[in-house]
Amino acid sequence: MSNGYSISKWDDAASINAELANLTSQPIWCVSDAAMTDVLENYYGKKCVKSKALYDEAKQYIPNGVQHNLAFNYPFPLCFDRAEGAYLYDVDGNKYVDFLQAGGPTILGSNYPAVRKEVEKLLGSCGPVTGLFHEGELLLAREISRHMPAVEMFRMLGSGTEAVMAAVRASRLYTKKKNIVKVGGSYHGWSDHMVYGQKVPGSGRLESHGIPARTTSLTREVRPNDLKALERALILNLARGGTACVILEPVGPESGTRPVDFDYNKGVRELCDKYKTLLIFDEVVTGFRLGLGGAQGYFGVRPDLTIFGKVIAGGYPAAGGIGGSREIITKTLAAGLQSGSKKAYIGGTLAANPLSSIAGYYTIKEIEKTNACEKAGLAGDKLTAGLNNLIKKYGLPFVCFNQGSIVHLECSGAMAFDVSAPIKIISLLKLLKSKGNVMKRKTAMERMGAAYMANGIVTLAGSRLYTSMADTDDVINEALEKFDNVFQTVEKGVIVEE
Ligand SMILES: Cc1ncc(COP(=O)(O)O)c(C=O)c1O
Repeated sequence: MSNGYSISKWDDAASINAELANLTSQPIWCVSDAAMTDVLENYYGKKCVKSKALYDEAKQYIPNGVQHNLAFNYPFPLCFDRAEGAYLYDVDGNKYVDFLQAGGPTILGSNYPAVRKEVEKLLGSCGPVTGLFHEGELLLAREISRHMPAVEMFRMLGSGTEAVMAAVRASRLYTKKKNIVKVGGSYHGWSDHMVYGQKVPGSGRLESHGIPARTTSLTREVRPNDLKALERALILNLARGGTACVILEPVGPESGTRPVDFDYNKGVRELCDKYKTLLIFDEVVTGFRLGLGGAQGYFGVRPDLTIFGKVIAGGYPAAGGIGGSREIITKTLAAGLQSGSKKAYIGGTLAANPLSSIAGYYTIKEIEKTNACEKAGLAGDKLTAGLNNLIKKYGLPFVCFNQGSIVHLECSGAMAFDVSAPIKIISLLKLLKSKGNVMKRKTAMERMGAAYMANGIVTLAGSRLYTSMADTDDVINEALEKFDNVFQTVEKGVIVEE
């Protein structure tokens, strides 16, 4: 490897997509009923008593009992009170290998001491926030720009969702065009324009509850990894007010769950140039995880705007930001209030607070010093190879692949459905036909997640695993033994309820 990036080889998208199609055409393979009863009764019932009591009380005050989207795990969320490197500990004292890594930000491993030391120093001097300029803002913006030439200027915000909102607004201002094109199945946060074609390509407004149809009428989704579909959408939009931006996750929708060809991003860049549309790379997951140069460095494609989140604050709160050329950023985004100027109004009380800025700056410095992205990528490769050996050993149809430190383990294929079609009504019919199947496969995925948890492995919803620099060979070997324990209880044709 040693090119500064975590990806040692780019897999052929077509062959992974074929494996995923095979998986979804199979009956459901899942932890057997007997093994699941054991997990529920003997682990969750006996070893997670304090978590259960806290959850039961939390349900009275918090919708569904937990605040964070990633925390609601079947059969109930466990409560964690210690995180260290590659490990998590719950309130009952159970220890886990942590492949959630907070949903991606902690590439150095959880609670990394060198960053914590700087944060503590800051808290001792000015506290987390003053609402005024702090040197940390400059240090972070300059550091990002040093690693990503396309980011001449950086505006920090509170989250990836906010940064996407800012980027959409900036691109409309800059191009004076209206429409937004996103790649179906991608997640770009939960702003009104973006909850469209969420998770399942072609699903349109399926998840747009509470969002007026008019709001998403300017968002168009295109089939992933399909440049012809993108060009068709750009041409159609010419008569509808033009396309302000194309936004995508460069490794493919849902953090690479649906892989794309290596040259896809380059093709999108060419189409954006041809139709005078801004290209936005959503690097919330990939920025400072794939490598210091992000996905844009890895693919060698220069986006007009870049969205940041997660690693940008090293796992500390308020992680988000938008970067781009001096020309676009200064023409579109207000600095301070600037009343009367024709610029986009963006900001936030806690945006770019000293704590987030300092945490982000020292995280990036530590990544550079330790080669964290490459080390996390090697761990991802080793984990993927080990999981594929286990899949072979037990003759399972599961699909496992990785983009460096982003590892995908598809057991039921719940994340692999695609109902996109050139005509909306066909997408809808395909969706209705597959809906029950998708829900059952989602349940199977959650069951697998519970079995992993009971065996001491935390995953993202039972299907994604983020590795970090803390994942040494010993940690990966330990995790593979635990996966082996789960895989040997898997059976074909398990009946799961929606
Ligand atoms: C690719 C991508 N974009 C945007 C977001 C939204 O970021 P945030 O959760 O900080 O609002 C996420 C969050 O997971 C993401 O994965």
